[in-house]
Amino acid sequence: MIEFENVSFKYDSKTEYVLNDITFKINKADFVAIVGKNGAGKTTLIKHFNGLLKPNEGIVRINGLDIVKEPISKMASIIGFSFQNPNHQLFAQNVIKELEFGPKNLKIEESVRDATIKSLIDIFQIEHLLERSPFELSGGERRLVSIASVLTMNQQILVLDEPTYGQDYRQKKQLGSFLKKLTKEGITVVVVSHDMDFILDFIPRAIVLSKGKVIADGGTTKILSDKVLLQDTDLVSPLLLDLCYSIQQIDDTFATSINEQEVYENILTMLSKQQKISR
Ligand SMILES: Nc1ncnc2c1ncn2[C@@H]1O[C@H](COP(=O)(O)OP(=O)(O)OP(=O)(O)O)[C@@H](O)[C@H]1O
Ligand SMILES: [Mg+2]
Repeated sequence: MIEFENVSFKYDSKTEYVLNDITFKINKADFVAIVGKNGAGKTTLIKHFNGLLKPNEGIVRINGLDIVKEPISKMASIIGFSFQNPNHQLFAQNVIKELEFGPKNLKIEESVRDATIKSLIDIFQIEHLLERSPFELSGGERRLVSIASVLTMNQQILVLDEPTYGQDYRQKKQLGSFLKKLTKEGITVVVVSHDMDFILDFIPRAIVLSKGKVIADGGTTKILSDKVLLQDTDLVSPLLLDLCYSIQQIDDTFATSINEQEVYENILTMLSKQQKISR
């Protein structure tokens, strides 16, 4: 469980607060997206999860432990992080060594380690990259390897900063389904993302940050259908919603929906109405 209680933080005593009186709770096995425009404070927020940054005011608790009082090494055994920039994370000579490093470090039993790594290689389809240096990979491949290397450690909480950046459609779907499956197994997953279509497809809850404050926290469908909220926070609406708004320009009775099947049926109804009128 991740608990923030009235957390405020600034990088420098002279500058303004980057996080401002933040309170929320994420339960075990929750799947949560953190959204907000560039500079809203998302990365700063998640760096508080493992004590990489410490609040100036308020309390952050992970599984009941106050992060200020616990060593980072202890938090690292509970929380896995995939950073926004994978170059900051990868360092081994080749991909297989990269994947083995974390579990070896945490002294995870060899047979468990090998089985986990094998299944991740299959899921992410990175078999052909194993002998390559992580630094010779494409941006998308590098991100995949960095996410896979976090997943090797079987931690209870996973935090992924922009995991779909640079990923193609198939990889995104694969990743979304896999993360969903992990939450069903009791893992808590927190994803920072600007990818509203990915969030809508896979992540049931969203926390919206604006200027270091939580301005909305709730069901993704409701939040991403809120046109005013999206405009106020400069977030891009999901494609399906954009389509509805475009159709409303020619038929203002057209209902807004973010359910693919519903939009499809609404379009058919609209077309059949138009055909009747023109007859
Ligand atoms: N190391 C740092 N020192 C000083 N200020 C920082 C530091 N890192 C971030 N900031 C500032 O804190 C604010 C929040 O930054 P943060 O990286 O948390 O935003 P973000 O929501 O993750 O943005 P993005 O979507 O661009 O990744 C920004 O104004 C940023 O300039
Ligand atoms: Mg960021």
